[in-house]
Amino acid sequence: MKHLLSVEDLSPADIHSLLELTDHMVEVSSRPIPKVPALRGKNVVSLFFEDSTRTRTSFDTAAKRLSADTMNFAVASSSVNKGESLRDTIETISAMGVDAFVIRHKSSGAPQMVTRWTNASIINAGDGWHQHPTQALLDCYTIRAGLNRRDSFDGLRIAIVGDIKHSRVARSDVQAFTKMGAHVTLVAPPTLLPPSLDGWPVEVSHDLDSLLPDLDVLYLLRVQRERMDEALLPSLHEYSALYGLTAERAARLAPHALVMHPGPMNRGVEMVVDPGELPGSVILHQVTNGVAVRMAVLFTLLGSGSDLRTGDTV
Ligand code: NCD
Repeated sequence: MKHLLSVEDLSPADIHSLLELTDHMVEVSSRPIPKVPALRGKNVVSLFFEDSTRTRTSFDTAAKRLSADTMNFAVASSSVNKGESLRDTIETISAMGVDAFVIRHKSSGAPQMVTRWTNASIINAGDGWHQHPTQALLDCYTIRAGLNRRDSFDGLRIAIVGDIKHSRVARSDVQAFTKMGAHVTLVAPPTLLPPSLDGWPVEVSHDLDSLLPDLDVLYLLRVQRERMDEALLPSLHEYSALYGLTAERAARLAPHALVMHPGPMNRGVEMVVDPGELPGSVILHQVTNGVAVRMAVLFTLLGSGSDLRTGDTV
């Protein structure tokens, strides 16, 4: 594997082996000094053309735990503002010696395009509405750990609720969860669903309340106000009344059910209850697992030839 661009490119066996490797990375992360020399000498550059809190810091932490050198390219203060193209930016930084670029971009397909302009590995950290593969992997890992499902998600019922239309997380998660064997239902008002769901291996519902008691995982998405250029919702209040997770709705979930959200949350919109008070909330586990999953991805793409435990070349 040279790049990680889309969940589409991963087989169920690939997902399985990345999650197994994540177990080792969780162990590394739990050590008093959570650091191994596995990627010593490798240079990992983050290029974020869209805002991010978790994904950017998570990749940075992951690369540092593997002893890679890291560089955060600050788009806002770069020559991108003088009109330098994406291609020239990539070629210029590549010329300094880069082993992997971690890229977030508002245009779907940008990370794929960048593979033509550099020999470095490309990791898609979110492109437009299209894909966010490491989010899908960390979500799979969190479900696998939270429901003790090591080998498959066969029989699990997962509802993804909210702004599916604008969500790269939903597109990536649907592919990953169904590859693992889960049954996925999308729950959203019609205006927040994509115009066509042809080829999506999902069911659709507009009635969250009727699904709640049967769910193993309730996955809430953020209402992405910054991506809406037309009025798709009568009001956030109305959205919240029909699709928001209130204390009453949470009480109707099965005791084992997990509540997930990729962050950032809109409190009072999709998340009305305080998730800190929900025993099934694994939202902060998602963040913690994100570091270990990204270590597994970086190690898989860049780490061949070195031993994970010692960092010695084998
Ligand atoms: C998501 C993203 O940017 O795709 N956040 C994240 O990476 N955890 C989801 C979102 O912005 O709603």
